[in-house]
Amino acid sequence: MTDDHARTNDPEAAGRRPLSRKTLLKAALVALPLPALLGGGVALARDHRPSDGPLPPTPFCDDGDDPTPPQIEGPYFKPDSPERASLLEPGTRGTRLTVRGYVFGTSCRPVAHALLDFWQADDSGAYDNTGFLLRGHQYTDRQGAFTLTTIVPGLYPGRTRHLHVKVQAPGGPLLTTQLYFPGEPRNNTDPIFNAALLMNVRRAGPAKEATFDFVVDPGSGLHS
Ligand SMILES: [Fe+2]
Repeated sequence: MTDDHARTNDPEAAGRRPLSRKTLLKAALVALPLPALLGGGVALARDHRPSDGPLPPTPFCDDGDDPTPPQIEGPYFKPDSPERASLLEPGTRGTRLTVRGYVFGTSCRPVAHALLDFWQADDSGAYDNTGFLLRGHQYTDRQGAFTLTTIVPGLYPGRTRHLHVKVQAPGGPLLTTQLYFPGEPRNNTDPIFNAALLMNVRRAGPAKEATFDFVVDPGSGLHS
């Protein structure tokens, strides 16, 4: 499967969304040393204010960053996937795709050691139901960040282009959901599609780079 549609659409423009609190948090996460992170994620967004200004009366936790919505698991999930951040193997065909992002708790703090278990169709739209091709789980790092290296999934009948993922904070409930690509014609006809689950996607030479941040119930985990 090529990315023909990408030549006629502008996925970057289609995926553009207003600056959100999470975006500010992410910028702060990149800019700040780890000790600052350990001081509390809620305070991170405040670091964009002048340092001598008063603290805002309420934390920025209610500006529309709702928990990531769940989606159906579908018929192709398999437990016990290998732990790996890259799903690429020798001979894997398809447009290379990197997905980067963070897992946040609903308390606005990044969640360290959150589980992310990805599975997807191959370049021709087929799932590996005998082995673990294009299946793998990983954990966010101490800053709540993850990077998935894979390919753009192919299309199969009845669905638009998507990645499947399960996300779980330590001690938290398991979120099953799917991620989508902007600019896909089938986004308009797939009844499961949810625009809240669109990744930001841009072309990077022959590959694609995407970002998506999850917001999950942090449960009782110590890292939330
Ligand atoms: Fe699927």
